[in-house]
Amino acid sequence: MNKILIAPSILAADYASLKSEIEKVKNAGADMLHVDVMDGHFVPNISIGPPVVASIRKCTDMFLDCHLMISEPLKYIDAFKKAGADMISFHLESDSDPDEVIEKIIQCGIKPAVVIKPQTAASAVFPYLKKVFAVLVMTVEPGFGGQSFMTDTVKKIKEIRDEAERLSIPLHIEVDGGIDKNTAPVAKEAGADMLVAGSYIFNSDDVVSAVASLR
Ligand code: DX5
Ligand code: ZN
Repeated sequence: MNKILIAPSILAADYASLKSEIEKVKNAGADMLHVDVMDGHFVPNISIGPPVVASIRKCTDMFLDCHLMISEPLKYIDAFKKAGADMISFHLESDSDPDEVIEKIIQCGIKPAVVIKPQTAASAVFPYLKKVFAVLVMTVEPGFGGQSFMTDTVKKIKEIRDEAERLSIPLHIEVDGGIDKNTAPVAKEAGADMLVAGSYIFNSDDVVSAVASLR
């Protein structure tokens, strides 16, 4: 099993104090930063885009995992590359062709990840397992932080881990939504090794313990 990587989602941070919020989670031992990008079309919410990612890039050396909840990811890969993304996660349910998006991300020298919403079958990611760095299994409906973990997504984590093992692929499986000290063990047990957590980490009075409790 891979080392467990903790990815705080800045969606739950104070955007007016991003620099100190990022330093706080870095000092608490977080491994990477999860940046949620929403276009108000693919999901019913709007968050941030490339200019904010560029500002974040200037103030931290943390690995930036950009989760694109947007309808046309292919159009924006160059912009996120330029802004400083290290990994781009895009939805299989988006309007772009997955093979083209993965190819473009790889050409940009960034790590590709495919994301599936709760209602999308695990097998939808199987054709891409050999090409991607990670698969992100949404454990809530994308669009908002602070929702409850959907337990019926757990079996998909296991199905994807089993398929990756069958193919001997050292795949990262990321989970996102409702991750806290109670749900993290369930996701890890099923085979997840990258844990995104927004409200659990940023709303905590003790961020060091919150990060440690997930690991
Ligand atoms: C939801 C986002 C998540 C969100 C998770 O659409 O993709 O990354 O920030 O928030 P919590 O951890 O509060 O469920
Ligand atoms: Zn996310």
